[in-house]
Amino acid sequence: MNKKPWAGRFKIETDKLMEDFTQSVSFDKRLYKYDIMGSVAHAKMLARSGIITDAEAKEIVDGLNGILEEIKNGEFIFSVSLEDIHMNIEKRLIEKIGAAGEKLHTGRSRNDQVTLDLRLYLRDETGEILKGIRAVQGVLLELAEKYLDTFMPAYTHMQRAQPVLLSHHLLSYIEMFKRDCARYGCCYKRINIMPLGAGAVAGSTLPLDREYVAKLLDFPEITGNSIDTVSDRDYCIEFTAASSILMMHLSRLAEELVLWSTEEFDFLELSDAFATGSSMMPQKKNPDVPELIRGRAGKVYGGLVSLLTMMKGLPLSYSRDMQEDKEPVFTAVDTVKQCLYILPPLLKSTVFNRDKMMEATRKGFLEATDVAEYLVQKGLPFRSAHETVGRVVAYCLEQGKIFPELSLEEWRGFSSLIGDDISDVVKTKNIIDKRKTAGGTARDEVKKRIAVLKKEFKVK
Ligand code: ARG
Repeated sequence: MNKKPWAGRFKIETDKLMEDFTQSVSFDKRLYKYDIMGSVAHAKMLARSGIITDAEAKEIVDGLNGILEEIKNGEFIFSVSLEDIHMNIEKRLIEKIGAAGEKLHTGRSRNDQVTLDLRLYLRDETGEILKGIRAVQGVLLELAEKYLDTFMPAYTHMQRAQPVLLSHHLLSYIEMFKRDCARYGCCYKRINIMPLGAGAVAGSTLPLDREYVAKLLDFPEITGNSIDTVSDRDYCIEFTAASSILMMHLSRLAEELVLWSTEEFDFLELSDAFATGSSMMPQKKNPDVPELIRGRAGKVYGGLVSLLTMMKGLPLSYSRDMQEDKEPVFTAVDTVKQCLYILPPLLKSTVFNRDKMMEATRKGFLEATDVAEYLVQKGLPFRSAHETVGRVVAYCLEQGKIFPELSLEEWRGFSSLIGDDISDVVKTKNIIDKRKTAGGTARDEVKKRIAVLKKEFKVK
């Protein structure tokens, strides 16, 4: 058993059960790189402020760099009796360099150290996630350009509503992901604030130069209140909230991949490289990847609820409850990254079934709104036009016909305002191209949007 840093005040040794119960090193060891980075900056600052000597700081920094190598090479032995990553590294430093190592924790508490580590970690991971989102957007943009001639039904209430370009549908996901990037970017501003120097809760009697630490670690600002500094986990909550919304978006995309790959829809085929078979049914090709993306959203949402619940009603400042912040954050990072990394190759290798999509625009009277608006242009009030077209739909359902199959006489039986230009009105291509509202599905509009997005993503 390791001697605890607080052993001075204690008469009997900690119970093994209690050690296992309270430890966090089994999961917070992933912060090692950031813990060392923060300690290096802290040691440099201690020397610069005259609290330790330059020689001591050098010993500490060299020792820490040695530990970094040991961990990277898998030589470091993590010990549960040393509770967390912070004490594991500090203990090893003292083992390695002796007296100077005992000075590292001067003016610092694990309460400000742990939030520094998490902030450094989340700064990097947010960058990775943003890159991942961009990659997914990039593939969607390529697909949107490729399928500019493919029509499909847009759905409302899961019923065929109006024809759109497949490109337009794909671009809608790019817009969602743009908002996700903005949310992470906003959260990043609150992650990117330097907390060290708050100490346990009230600051320090020592002349700590917080601005210098911020500069060394490339933080644009320092936190403003020591109590809030060690109490605050808003940035973890915001990060997990942004991740939850992203997962919700990914789950919708995943759901459409699942749905569209069914025999019933047959709008696309996933590559064999991204599908699985059944252990019993030889004919099966299952969309497990999108199903798992859909399923994993719950893990991230769960983490958000855990964090909110953990913080709710917690009196100021740090309480040990807050050690429970890490696993939900790590789960969010891992889940989001896994999903973002698999989507680009999966989407790239997916074949969209153009014929099936085009065919689906023929049935379901997707032309109905256009015929109503045609009648409006001929002078009929919209409500009467709506009713007239409703009667045409009922007639077609009885006769087993679709709009393009109706003769001019049949049309004129419903309204004498209808002329022979009606055959153009019910052509899918025209229906799409007439939707020139900014952000609408007209081919020209979609091309405009693609151009804007390409410029934004710096794609040629
Ligand atoms: N492992 C702890 C955590 O993650 C570090 C801070 C511990 N502070 C304390 N006073 N026990 O929150």
